[in-house]
Amino acid sequence: MKMIHKPIFFTLTLLTVGFIACKHNPQEEVTPVLNNPGNNTTNDSVSFQTEILPLLVGNCAMTGCHDAASAAEGVVLNNYNNVINTAKVIAFNPNNSELYEVLLETDPDKRMPRPPAAPLTQAQIALIARWINQGARNTNIVRCDTNTFTFGAVQTIINNNCGGCHSSANPQGGINLSDYNNIKQQTQSGKLLGSINHLPGNSAMPKGGNKLEACKITIIQKWAAAGYLNN
Ligand code: HEC
Repeated sequence: MKMIHKPIFFTLTLLTVGFIACKHNPQEEVTPVLNNPGNNTTNDSVSFQTEILPLLVGNCAMTGCHDAASAAEGVVLNNYNNVINTAKVIAFNPNNSELYEVLLETDPDKRMPRPPAAPLTQAQIALIARWINQGARNTNIVRCDTNTFTFGAVQTIINNNCGGCHSSANPQGGINLSDYNNIKQQTQSGKLLGSINHLPGNSAMPKGGNKLEACKITIIQKWAAAGYLNN
Protein backbone atom coordinates (compact mmCIF):
# COMPACT_ATOMS: atom_id res chain seq x y z
CA MET A 1 0.00 0.00 0.00
CA LYS A 2 1.36 3.42 -0.91
CA MET A 3 2.00 5.89 1.90
CA ILE A 4 -0.77 8.22 0.75
CA HIS A 5 -3.49 5.60 1.12
CA LYS A 6 -2.74 4.68 4.70
CA PRO A 7 -4.83 7.36 6.47
CA ILE A 8 -7.78 6.57 4.25
CA PHE A 9 -7.41 2.89 4.97
CA PHE A 10 -7.31 3.50 8.72
CA THR A 11 -10.29 5.81 8.61
CA LEU A 12 -12.30 3.21 6.74
CA THR A 13 -11.25 0.53 9.21
CA LEU A 14 -12.29 2.66 12.17
CA LEU A 15 -15.63 3.46 10.56
CA THR A 16 -16.31 -0.21 9.89
CA VAL A 17 -15.39 -1.26 13.42
CA GLY A 18 -17.52 1.53 14.84
CA PHE A 19 -20.46 0.51 12.68
CA ILE A 20 -20.28 -3.12 13.75
CA ALA A 21 -19.96 -2.20 17.43
CA CYS A 22 -23.00 0.07 17.35
CA LYS A 23 -25.19 -2.17 15.25
CA HIS A 24 -27.82 -3.68 17.47
CA ASN A 25 -28.94 -6.91 15.97
CA PRO A 26 -30.28 -9.00 18.83
CA GLN A 27 -29.99 -12.21 16.81
CA GLU A 28 -26.22 -11.88 16.72
CA GLU A 29 -25.92 -11.43 20.46
CA VAL A 30 -27.72 -14.60 21.47
CA THR A 31 -25.50 -17.39 22.71
CA PRO A 32 -26.59 -20.79 21.43
CA VAL A 33 -28.47 -22.75 24.09
CA LEU A 34 -25.94 -24.44 26.32
CA ASN A 35 -27.07 -27.95 26.89
CA ASN A 36 -24.50 -28.32 29.60
CA PRO A 37 -26.07 -30.26 32.44
CA GLY A 38 -23.43 -28.86 34.75
CA ASN A 39 -22.18 -32.12 36.20
CA ASN A 40 -18.71 -30.89 37.01
CA THR A 41 -19.44 -28.65 39.93
CA THR A 42 -17.29 -27.51 42.83
CA ASN A 43 -18.08 -26.00 46.21
CA ASP A 44 -18.21 -22.51 44.80
CA SER A 45 -20.31 -23.36 41.73
CA VAL A 46 -23.50 -21.35 41.56
CA SER A 47 -26.57 -23.55 41.15
CA PHE A 48 -28.93 -22.41 38.41
CA GLN A 49 -31.93 -24.53 39.41
CA THR A 50 -31.85 -23.92 43.16
CA GLU A 51 -30.30 -20.44 43.42
CA ILE A 52 -30.70 -18.43 40.20
CA LEU A 53 -34.06 -19.65 38.83
CA PRO A 54 -35.95 -19.08 42.12
CA LEU A 55 -34.64 -15.49 42.22
CA LEU A 56 -35.82 -14.87 38.67
CA VAL A 57 -39.21 -16.52 39.19
CA GLY A 58 -39.77 -14.65 42.48
CA ASN A 59 -38.73 -11.23 41.23
CA CYS A 60 -39.43 -11.24 37.51
CA ALA A 61 -41.80 -14.04 36.40
CA MET A 62 -45.01 -12.65 37.83
CA THR A 63 -48.22 -11.95 35.94
CA GLY A 64 -47.84 -8.90 33.72
CA CYS A 65 -44.05 -9.25 33.62
CA HIS A 66 -41.91 -12.22 32.58
CA ASP A 67 -44.07 -15.29 33.14
CA ALA A 68 -44.79 -17.40 30.06
CA ALA A 69 -48.24 -15.88 29.50
CA SER A 70 -47.18 -12.22 29.74
CA ALA A 71 -43.68 -12.44 28.17
CA ALA A 72 -43.09 -8.69 28.43
CA GLU A 73 -40.71 -7.59 25.64
CA GLY A 74 -40.36 -11.25 24.65
CA VAL A 75 -38.53 -12.09 27.87
CA VAL A 76 -39.67 -15.21 29.75
CA LEU A 77 -37.81 -16.16 32.91
CA ASN A 78 -39.40 -19.46 33.88
CA ASN A 79 -36.79 -22.08 32.88
CA TYR A 80 -33.18 -22.45 31.77
CA ASN A 81 -33.62 -22.32 27.98
CA ASN A 82 -35.93 -19.32 28.15
CA VAL A 83 -33.59 -17.43 30.48
CA ILE A 84 -30.58 -18.03 28.23
CA ASN A 85 -32.36 -17.22 24.98
CA THR A 86 -34.88 -14.50 25.78
CA ALA A 87 -32.75 -12.56 28.30
CA LYS A 88 -29.72 -12.86 26.03
CA VAL A 89 -27.29 -14.40 28.48
CA ILE A 90 -23.75 -14.58 27.13
CA ALA A 91 -21.72 -17.17 29.01
CA PHE A 92 -18.64 -15.77 30.78
CA ASN A 93 -19.72 -12.22 29.91
CA PRO A 94 -22.17 -10.65 32.39
CA ASN A 95 -21.60 -7.10 31.17
CA ASN A 96 -22.88 -8.02 27.72
CA SER A 97 -25.75 -10.14 29.04
CA GLU A 98 -29.06 -8.31 29.02
CA LEU A 99 -30.25 -10.27 32.07
CA TYR A 100 -27.43 -8.71 34.11
CA GLU A 101 -27.27 -5.25 32.50
CA VAL A 102 -30.87 -4.39 33.39
CA LEU A 103 -30.25 -5.07 37.08
CA LEU A 104 -27.63 -2.30 37.21
CA GLU A 105 -29.59 0.42 35.39
CA THR A 106 -29.83 3.60 37.45
CA ASP A 107 -32.71 4.99 35.37
CA PRO A 108 -35.88 3.72 37.11
CA ASP A 109 -37.65 3.44 33.73
CA LYS A 110 -35.06 0.89 32.61
CA ARG A 111 -34.10 -0.88 35.82
CA MET A 112 -35.43 -4.37 36.54
CA PRO A 113 -37.40 -5.16 38.51
CA ARG A 114 -39.37 -1.96 37.85
CA PRO A 115 -40.35 0.25 40.77
CA PRO A 116 -42.24 0.05 43.09
CA ALA A 117 -40.42 -3.29 43.37
CA ALA A 118 -37.09 -2.92 45.14
CA PRO A 119 -33.93 -3.59 43.12
CA LEU A 120 -32.27 -6.95 43.72
CA THR A 121 -29.80 -6.85 46.60
CA GLN A 122 -26.05 -6.51 45.96
CA ALA A 123 -25.62 -10.15 47.02
CA GLN A 124 -28.29 -11.35 44.56
CA ILE A 125 -26.81 -9.29 41.72
CA ALA A 126 -23.32 -10.61 42.52
CA LEU A 127 -24.65 -14.19 42.50
CA ILE A 128 -26.07 -13.72 38.99
CA ALA A 129 -22.75 -12.26 37.81
CA ARG A 130 -20.87 -15.24 39.28
CA TRP A 131 -23.23 -17.69 37.59
CA ILE A 132 -22.64 -16.05 34.19
CA ASN A 133 -18.89 -15.81 34.82
CA GLN A 134 -18.83 -19.53 35.56
CA GLY A 135 -20.36 -20.22 32.14
CA ALA A 136 -24.12 -19.79 32.77
CA ARG A 137 -24.56 -23.54 33.09
CA ASN A 138 -27.72 -25.46 33.95
CA THR A 139 -26.37 -26.57 37.32
CA ASN A 140 -28.56 -28.12 39.99
CA ILE A 141 -26.93 -28.28 43.41
CA VAL A 142 -28.95 -28.63 46.62
CA ARG A 143 -27.39 -26.75 49.52
CA CYS A 144 -29.23 -27.07 52.82
CA ASP A 145 -28.36 -27.52 56.47
CA THR A 146 -31.43 -28.87 58.22
CA ASN A 147 -29.65 -28.54 61.58
CA THR A 148 -29.90 -24.77 61.27
CA PHE A 149 -33.58 -23.86 61.59
CA THR A 150 -33.26 -20.31 62.91
CA PHE A 151 -35.56 -17.55 61.71
CA GLY A 152 -32.55 -16.23 59.76
CA ALA A 153 -32.41 -19.47 57.78
CA VAL A 154 -36.18 -19.35 57.16
CA GLN A 155 -36.04 -15.72 56.05
CA THR A 156 -33.25 -16.46 53.56
CA ILE A 157 -35.35 -19.23 52.01
CA ILE A 158 -38.40 -16.94 51.79
CA ASN A 159 -36.41 -13.98 50.42
CA ASN A 160 -34.78 -16.08 47.73
CA ASN A 161 -37.82 -18.11 46.66
CA CYS A 162 -40.88 -15.97 47.34
CA GLY A 163 -39.11 -12.66 46.85
CA GLY A 164 -40.82 -9.87 44.99
CA CYS A 165 -44.18 -11.67 44.79
CA HIS A 166 -44.74 -11.38 48.53
CA SER A 167 -42.84 -8.21 49.43
CA SER A 168 -44.53 -5.48 51.44
CA ALA A 169 -44.54 -3.27 48.31
CA ASN A 170 -46.38 -5.88 46.24
CA PRO A 171 -47.92 -8.66 48.33
CA GLN A 172 -49.52 -10.93 45.72
CA GLY A 173 -52.67 -12.71 46.82
CA GLY A 174 -52.63 -10.35 49.82
CA ILE A 175 -49.82 -12.41 51.38
CA ASN A 176 -46.95 -10.33 52.81
CA LEU A 177 -43.87 -12.40 53.71
CA SER A 178 -41.46 -9.53 54.33
CA ASP A 179 -40.85 -9.83 58.06
CA TYR A 180 -40.98 -12.04 61.15
CA ASN A 181 -44.55 -11.28 62.25
CA ASN A 182 -46.06 -11.82 58.81
CA ILE A 183 -44.09 -15.01 58.13
CA LYS A 184 -45.02 -16.37 61.57
CA GLN A 185 -48.70 -15.54 61.04
CA GLN A 186 -48.84 -17.23 57.61
CA THR A 187 -47.04 -20.29 58.99
CA GLN A 188 -49.30 -20.54 62.05
CA SER A 189 -52.41 -20.36 59.87
CA GLY A 190 -51.15 -23.41 57.94
CA LYS A 191 -51.30 -21.50 54.64
CA LEU A 192 -47.55 -21.18 54.10
CA LEU A 193 -46.76 -24.86 54.72
CA GLY A 194 -49.87 -25.94 52.79
CA SER A 195 -48.81 -23.94 49.76
CA ILE A 196 -45.15 -25.02 49.68
CA ASN A 197 -46.11 -28.67 50.28
CA HIS A 198 -48.65 -28.36 47.43
CA LEU A 199 -51.44 -29.65 49.69
CA PRO A 200 -54.95 -29.78 48.21
CA GLY A 201 -56.94 -26.62 48.85
CA ASN A 202 -53.84 -24.39 48.70
CA SER A 203 -52.32 -22.56 45.76
CA ALA A 204 -49.05 -24.32 44.91
CA MET A 205 -46.05 -22.08 45.70
CA PRO A 206 -43.66 -20.77 44.47
CA LYS A 207 -46.13 -19.90 41.71
CA GLY A 208 -44.73 -20.79 38.30
CA GLY A 209 -41.52 -22.21 39.80
CA ASN A 210 -40.16 -25.56 40.94
CA LYS A 211 -41.33 -26.96 44.27
CA LEU A 212 -38.89 -26.06 47.05
CA GLU A 213 -36.28 -28.72 47.79
CA ALA A 214 -37.43 -31.06 50.58
CA CYS A 215 -34.64 -29.91 52.91
CA LYS A 216 -35.80 -26.29 52.69
CA ILE A 217 -39.35 -27.31 53.58
CA THR A 218 -37.88 -29.30 56.50
CA ILE A 219 -36.08 -26.19 57.79
CA ILE A 220 -39.34 -24.19 57.83
CA GLN A 221 -41.21 -27.09 59.49
CA LYS A 222 -38.51 -27.49 62.17
CA TRP A 223 -38.57 -23.74 62.84
CA ALA A 224 -42.35 -23.89 63.31
CA ALA A 225 -42.15 -26.99 65.53
CA ALA A 226 -39.51 -25.32 67.69
CA GLY A 227 -41.90 -22.45 68.47
CA TYR A 228 -41.15 -19.84 65.78
CA LEU A 229 -37.96 -18.57 67.43
CA ASN A 230 -37.01 -15.09 66.29
CA ASN A 231 -33.29 -15.64 66.04
C1 HEC B 1 -44.23 -15.45 40.82
C2 HEC B 1 -44.89 -14.92 41.98
C3 HEC B 1 -44.99 -15.76 43.23
C4 HEC B 1 -43.99 -16.45 43.87
C5 HEC B 1 -42.54 -16.62 43.47
C6 HEC B 1 -44.58 -16.96 45.09
N1 HEC B 1 -45.88 -16.61 45.14
FE1 HEC B 1 -47.18 -17.09 46.65
N2 HEC B 1 -48.73 -16.26 45.61
C7 HEC B 1 -48.62 -15.62 44.40
C8 HEC B 1 -49.94 -15.26 43.93
C9 HEC B 1 -50.25 -14.52 42.64
C10 HEC B 1 -50.85 -15.72 44.91
C11 HEC B 1 -52.39 -15.63 44.89
C12 HEC B 1 -53.00 -16.97 44.59
C13 HEC B 1 -52.71 -17.46 43.21
O1 HEC B 1 -52.76 -16.68 42.23
O2 HEC B 1 -52.39 -18.66 43.06
C14 HEC B 1 -50.06 -16.33 45.96
C15 HEC B 1 -50.58 -16.90 47.10
C16 HEC B 1 -49.82 -17.38 48.16
C17 HEC B 1 -50.37 -17.88 49.41
C18 HEC B 1 -51.84 -18.02 49.75
C19 HEC B 1 -52.22 -19.40 49.25
C20 HEC B 1 -53.60 -19.80 49.50
O3 HEC B 1 -53.90 -20.96 49.16
O4 HEC B 1 -54.39 -19.00 50.01
C21 HEC B 1 -49.30 -18.26 50.18
C22 HEC B 1 -49.35 -18.80 51.62
C23 HEC B 1 -48.12 -18.02 49.41
N3 HEC B 1 -48.45 -17.50 48.19
C24 HEC B 1 -46.83 -18.31 49.84
C25 HEC B 1 -45.72 -18.30 49.02
C26 HEC B 1 -44.42 -18.78 49.43
C27 HEC B 1 -44.10 -19.33 50.82
C28 HEC B 1 -43.59 -18.60 48.38
C29 HEC B 1 -42.14 -18.98 48.27
C30 HEC B 1 -41.76 -20.32 48.65
C31 HEC B 1 -44.37 -18.02 47.29
N4 HEC B 1 -45.66 -17.85 47.73
C32 HEC B 1 -43.86 -17.68 46.04
C33 HEC B 1 -47.45 -15.35 43.72
C34 HEC B 1 -46.20 -15.89 44.03
